[in-house]
Amino acid sequence: MRKKIVAGNWKMNNDLDQTILLIEELKKNQITKVNVMIAPSSLFLKTAKDLLEDSPIEVISQNVHQKSNGAYTGEVSCDMLKNIGISTTLIGHSERRAHFNENDFVLLEKVKFAIDSGMNIIFCFGEQLKDRKSNKHFDVVKSQLENTVLKLNSDFWKNIILAYEPVWAIGTGETASAEQAQEMHEFVRNCISKSYGDIVSDKVSILYGGSVKPSNAIEIFSKKDVDGGLIGGASLVASDFDEIVKANS
Ligand code: PGA
Repeated sequence: MRKKIVAGNWKMNNDLDQTILLIEELKKNQITKVNVMIAPSSLFLKTAKDLLEDSPIEVISQNVHQKSNGAYTGEVSCDMLKNIGISTTLIGHSERRAHFNENDFVLLEKVKFAIDSGMNIIFCFGEQLKDRKSNKHFDVVKSQLENTVLKLNSDFWKNIILAYEPVWAIGTGETASAEQAQEMHEFVRNCISKSYGDIVSDKVSILYGGSVKPSNAIEIFSKKDVDGGLIGGASLVASDFDEIVKANS
């Protein structure tokens, strides 16, 4: 049985008061069998963690650095995250790739270092609109995975969650259809199976991300290889996020 997950990526949104308010709202929601995660700003991770002390909602990081410590101005290390009780981080979000030049080489370093440090990761990948229009989306995704997570030893896979996020669907209001999501998730699971076998590939949760909303969540989550979602905009509204969580129950 794969873990069902709904994770909210708050990105660079919500000041301290808004962070507290949204968490208080989320705490009122009934959590079912789904693993619910939120990724607030790194500045407020400790506050979020304290507020959610008795809650099943997991607080996760949006990013982590690939070195243990040192002269890396502005960065956050695995040890710092673990020190405040954070054990999961996103890696490879398309906004990190696009705005902070994180390429496959850096992402592989991050993934290895984070898992070696005892963390779990949600590894994000996905094609651009031009790739899909030129029918190269499977090749692009395959290469993103082959250059990073598929290089790892099979032991690493118990700490990996994947998130397929077609870049053209992020924050655009345009969602991949449930069929497009399923087709890619199945392709990705087959890639994992070819490298590590079915036992490993069957256990990996693959989330879909890109304009998931209460109105489309049920259909997307109903697909057999879609194990949940990574939610941006809709995770900033407690009632919307709750509906999306329930859609995965
Ligand atoms: P979106 O963002 O739901 O606002 O499209 C998803 C993401 O970037 O993880």
